[in-house]
Amino acid sequence: MSTEPNFINSDVNPLSLFKEWYEDAKKSEINDPNAMNLATISPNGKPSSRIVLLKSFNEQGFIFYTNSNSKKGKSIKNNTNVALNFHWKSLLKQIRIEGTVSIVENSEADKYYNSRPLGSRIGAWASKQSEELDDRSTLLNRVEEYEKKFEKTNISRPAHWNGYLVNPNLIEFWQDMPFRLHDRVEFKKQKDSWISRKLYP
Ligand SMILES: Cc1cc2nc3c(=O)[nH]c(=O)nc-3n(C[C@H](O)[C@H](O)[C@H](O)COP(=O)(O)O)c2cc1C
Repeated sequence: MSTEPNFINSDVNPLSLFKEWYEDAKKSEINDPNAMNLATISPNGKPSSRIVLLKSFNEQGFIFYTNSNSKKGKSIKNNTNVALNFHWKSLLKQIRIEGTVSIVENSEADKYYNSRPLGSRIGAWASKQSEELDDRSTLLNRVEEYEKKFEKTNISRPAHWNGYLVNPNLIEFWQDMPFRLHDRVEFKKQKDSWISRKLYP
């Protein structure tokens, strides 16, 4: 087993380790290193998942943006327990995160919204995300409507388009190892500190 890659260091802050792996992923992934699976629990108790983009992260957690009236938005309103998953194929690594989610401050969401291209800002108004769409032309008409509406006035962030912070209580690092003897380290938050343990693959 002397040819094994480095083992995961379990004696670190998991947010620092996340940063390290994320920086590696930015260099090696062909696209969207910030794509993460977001799993939520629907009001009927069933799980649901989809990809969203990580826009920033800090000691408090991981931030993504979405429409609060979407399926995920409604699920989160009803149950704030969520899970995230990053899989970086180029690194043969996975990071699993569990935590609770909350809406970020308006000022932070405004700042990010205002940094987006105009087309994306219009899109946030035009898309009734996750509602039934009878025909694509209806969406394109709505885009035109909002383009006209905001032609001469400043375009503001829709109240239904928000940033969400996932505050982690569990973070697991997984890396591929020969013979499927993968290396796994789980960090669990206890009060204000992280307790780590290794897991069988
Ligand atoms: C690479 C990728 C990135 C995406 N990023 C986002 C995102 O940041 N926010 C978002 O609302 N939807 C994003 N989507 C679309 C979602 O996967 C999903 O289709 C949409 O949010 C509706 O999900 P819901 O009906 O479960 O609410 C992305 C999809 C892909 C494939």
